[in-house]
Amino acid sequence: MSTVSISHRKVAFDVSAVPRHWNGGDPVLTRFFDALSVHFPEGERFFIQSVRHFQDQVTDSRLRQDIRHFIRQEGQHGIVHDRFNDVMAGQGIDVERVTANLRRFIRTSQKYLPKKYQLAMTAAFEHFTATLGEAMLKEETDMFREADPVMRAMFLWHGVEEVEHKAVAYDLYQTAAGGGYLTRVSALVVAMLMVHAVVAPVFINMLRLDGALRKPGVVLRGLNRLYGRGGILTGMLPEFLAWFRPGFHPWETGMPEKVAAWLEEYGEHGDPMRASAAVYGDAVIQEAA
Ligand SMILES: [Fe+2]
Ligand SMILES: [Fe+2]
Repeated sequence: MSTVSISHRKVAFDVSAVPRHWNGGDPVLTRFFDALSVHFPEGERFFIQSVRHFQDQVTDSRLRQDIRHFIRQEGQHGIVHDRFNDVMAGQGIDVERVTANLRRFIRTSQKYLPKKYQLAMTAAFEHFTATLGEAMLKEETDMFREADPVMRAMFLWHGVEEVEHKAVAYDLYQTAAGGGYLTRVSALVVAMLMVHAVVAPVFINMLRLDGALRKPGVVLRGLNRLYGRGGILTGMLPEFLAWFRPGFHPWETGMPEKVAAWLEEYGEHGDPMRASAAVYGDAVIQEAA
């Protein structure tokens, strides 16, 4: 069960002036997050639906409350990412087609997969987003060191909330859905295959549109920062693979220090830009000085 009380924050970000390659001018590091962003609103709607199938079977009042916050948080993530996705549409990215494809894919999966498996998939995706969220708040990963401050604040807010609700779908799967080990393990494998099959072509297409594929050096350097030794995704592997251990629970990684710092700063001012600067931006400024 979660050790923190989850809150729903109705935030908004002015993304109108965000530069095309907002993550340090690096097309690969930018488009990796852009490709995820395009899929978030539809994906998050799927997570909400998967959880709702079992919501009425929950007897624990704390979990019932957590589910309500989970639904509100994911709903707000969708709203915020939709706004940014409109900016990407203005850059010539066919957001509408990508979204329609994903919607069709999700509808087909919902038709054929048992509800319990859909929830296992949701818990697995949530493990990915929470691990990514925790990694965002670790300085060693350098994920947004040179990022546009608005985009960094947007992803940090989303990342923090993913950490906050990291165990909701998992606990629901284990309790109300009576889910077992083998199903949840297979769900993560299937979920990651899906991420690569669905998101990777969009990611590559964005890079092609930017003309980045004509610069193999830029692409290789970017991919190295994602998948290389000490890369953003490689650095997440130990926490990510913990899922395969029988008896795993999302809260075993606890609440990362910087997530707690973000929550404290946000709690004081209610400003995600300020919370982001406090836990990430200011640290960068201090180091540079
Ligand atoms: Fe989310
Ligand atoms: Fe989530």
